[in-house]
Amino acid sequence: MTSLIAYCRSGYESDTAKELAERTAQQNIYGYPIFRPNQGFVEFPFYEPPSETFISNEFDVKNTIFPRQLIWVIAVLSDLEPSDRISPILNEVTKHADKFGAVWVEYPDTDEGKGLAKFCRKFAVPLRQALRKENYLTKQEKLLYPVLHVFFTDFNTCKLAISYPHTRSPFELGVCRLKFPSSAPSRSTLKLEEAILTMLNDSERRLVFRAGARAVDLGACPGGWTYQLVTREMYVEAVDNGLIDEKLMATGQVAHFAADGFTYRPQHHKVDLLVCDMIEQPDRVAKLMGDWLVTGRSLHAIFNLKLPMKQRYETVSQALLSLKSRLVKLDDQFSVKARHLYHDRDEVTVTVVRQS
Ligand SMILES: C[S@@+](CC[C@H](N)C(=O)[O-])C[C@H]1O[C@@H](n2cnc3c(N)ncnc32)[C@H](O)[C@@H]1O
Repeated sequence: MTSLIAYCRSGYESDTAKELAERTAQQNIYGYPIFRPNQGFVEFPFYEPPSETFISNEFDVKNTIFPRQLIWVIAVLSDLEPSDRISPILNEVTKHADKFGAVWVEYPDTDEGKGLAKFCRKFAVPLRQALRKENYLTKQEKLLYPVLHVFFTDFNTCKLAISYPHTRSPFELGVCRLKFPSSAPSRSTLKLEEAILTMLNDSERRLVFRAGARAVDLGACPGGWTYQLVTREMYVEAVDNGLIDEKLMATGQVAHFAADGFTYRPQHHKVDLLVCDMIEQPDRVAKLMGDWLVTGRSLHAIFNLKLPMKQRYETVSQALLSLKSRLVKLDDQFSVKARHLYHDRDEVTVTVVRQS
């Protein structure tokens, strides 16, 4: 395999390209990005094929920032006949030893790409049947097997690619869709929910979200993030000059403080979790988060870094680097992850979990 495709949010192709180039070069693997602005993905051909270990174990999308999904290209099919798109796909699949646990028929997450959504959904049904008949696909969906991606860029062109269980996003298109909880006060709630579900592993979730634990929410109003903490039975100090949702206050689990998030101190000196969604400069927020973690004012932190218009990858990398350089001097170990989540817009979400 000599080419990788990374799905990303439309408009974030150049940040994704820079990240792919930097991360692969760190492993002495070299290639170059190909993309058009706003196409929702980046192709990355390599000069030399990376090792199987790199592909299936080491290059994990969950450790990247901007890619939503990483898939490894095995063939590009163009001029497909509308009357039979399946035979050429089967032809290519025959050349590969893998048995697949699922086939995902996908398209770029762009306005143009969404025009392919209905076709992809329909096409997946006969394709799945044909792959099962030839024994290339497991009878039940098994995500511990490789997944075959059929990525359509128009009705007659698709790229066939493979993803692996340890390094892929478990979601089709790399998109974690969540239902908006009707009693949540703002759609922002989905950003924190997605972070909790996709960026933390089971033991981290149990460690951070304990019933009865205390949290501070900086820039809390109207209360979408506080809502996530309250539903997990935590007690929250919600800090913001704005208005907080009445229903949240009625739970008895929330205390509202109309104060500046940069100077606020927790009521009982320290908390289990600090969350922060203030619209502020990313370096200022990263410094503030570092201050709380280094002084032990909070054990863990989840926060958003709002992105500038340009140099977004560099800005996030710099903010993370300065945060990590402060944490590394402490006795405790920290797991730090940053992801451009589906529910994020011009921002990335960072989780910092102190390992016990
Ligand atoms: C994106 S909104 C937060 C939305 C919230 N997370 C939710 O889920 O409903 C940003 C909030 O940060 C607050 N904010 C901005 N600067 C602040 C500061 N220095 N101190 C406290 N709050 C601040 C704003 O008042 C605004 O309510």
